[in-house]
Amino acid sequence: GGVAVAVAAGSVVAGCASDSGPVGTGTAARRPLPVPPLLAPRLVDGKKIFALDARAGISEIKAGISTPTWGYNGSILGPTVRARRGDLVRMEVTNSLPEMTTTHWHGMHLPALMDGGPHQPIEPSSTWTPEWRIDQQAATLWYHPHPHGNTGHHIYRGLAGLFVLDDDNADAAGLPNEYGVDDIPLIIQDRRFHPDGTLDETDRKDLGLLGDTTMVNGITDPHFIATARRVRFRILNGATMRMFNLRFSDGRTFHIVASDSGLLNDPTPVENVYLSPGERAEIVLDLKTGDEVTLRAVKFADNLEVDNSDAPDFGLADEFDLLTLTGPNQGGEPAPLPNGLNATLIAMPDTKGAPTRNMDMEWFQINGKRMDITRVDDVIDHQGWEVWTVANKDNWLHNFHVHDTQFRVLSLERTSTTPMIDGWKDTILLAPGAVATLAVRFTGYTSTRWPYMYHCHMAYHEDQGMMGQFVVVEPGQQPDPQIGTGLDH
Ligand code: C2O
Ligand code: CU
Ligand code: CU
Repeated sequence: GGVAVAVAAGSVVAGCASDSGPVGTGTAARRPLPVPPLLAPRLVDGKKIFALDARAGISEIKAGISTPTWGYNGSILGPTVRARRGDLVRMEVTNSLPEMTTTHWHGMHLPALMDGGPHQPIEPSSTWTPEWRIDQQAATLWYHPHPHGNTGHHIYRGLAGLFVLDDDNADAAGLPNEYGVDDIPLIIQDRRFHPDGTLDETDRKDLGLLGDTTMVNGITDPHFIATARRVRFRILNGATMRMFNLRFSDGRTFHIVASDSGLLNDPTPVENVYLSPGERAEIVLDLKTGDEVTLRAVKFADNLEVDNSDAPDFGLADEFDLLTLTGPNQGGEPAPLPNGLNATLIAMPDTKGAPTRNMDMEWFQINGKRMDITRVDDVIDHQGWEVWTVANKDNWLHNFHVHDTQFRVLSLERTSTTPMIDGWKDTILLAPGAVATLAVRFTGYTSTRWPYMYHCHMAYHEDQGMMGQFVVVEPGQQPDPQIGTGLDH
């Protein structure tokens, strides 16, 4: 069991690497779960400066097979960026790739100019240096490319990393929080390979880059040996198109402790959790000595599809073994998980009289329009809450993501629910026919010149134009007519 794992430079291996693996199971192909390293910032004038370099390399996604990939500071994925509420951060993103890319901070509340969407291209051999103050609660966010019309391919080639935010409330929550020891990121993705080991980048009809092979943190068949009885996993569905319904092989109960944008108030016991592309969940899993368990992606039991055999199902029926886990060889019984983790969730916002908007998602369009980088679809000229009614009018799945902000789910009709809709979110899965009413909050940053995006986060849909642009401006202001001109990459 060598540890020849090509993940981001300096990557560490979780748990203690064992040469033998668990007894009685076929471990030949298993390798230790790589954990993306934490990116150490430079401290200059009270700023935390994080350097990311998007570059090409060779990765060993499948054991013994070389695959050309892209990564930040390494050959695939990227280091975990970690900052605290109140921090002033500056990112230095260098593009060492042969083509233009962008780096978007998914889930981050920040000025639109810093957002890293299609309006902030980073040309090859140049460096982009956004900075902003972290002004939101502890959460597991992520960063990924967002070039106009090409997001799916750039993510698929390997560009994605976690951006973890801390605050005093989360520090005091009593959850496992030692990164790489009992606080472990799991970036779950899928790929297809050509026989020579290169990535198959053919967009399939309706399915885009839906893969047939799963990987966690950049490799297939990883194995995690716990050193603690209780482990927190920060899980990202980093796939471009695939839905994952996650469950342990023995059906054991675990707790969801956080949704996309922050802690739930009470840890919720569940036997499965499902995530659409871009969504995150933090879960807490208790393990005992002698435990051998597999984290699996299983068939969705919930009815997320209409009865239409022609509709693509984006992985709802597929099953994969994602990660095997071995319990720790020591450690006492963990205490019951505490409740009352997040007071921001106690009351639903009062949205009476708030402006409303409808987002109808149908046939690669939102409200009958495909993305036009020079068109502003929505002007938000006030601060505070809005109520957005988002409807999936198609007979296949979509999800919906909004930049800059987080939302609460006021209601969700005609779809199955997950405990995570009780928490703060930035991305929500919409079954065919589903209608979600969202309380969306706008605070702080205004700009007439730079828009934010909302879109389906199934990357093929997004790249086909299922995306709109909005600006947040002062009362009475209009967007700059120059928006997006000259951005025809
Ligand atoms: Cu995660 Cu507009 O993106
Ligand atoms: Cu985003
Ligand atoms: Cu979609």
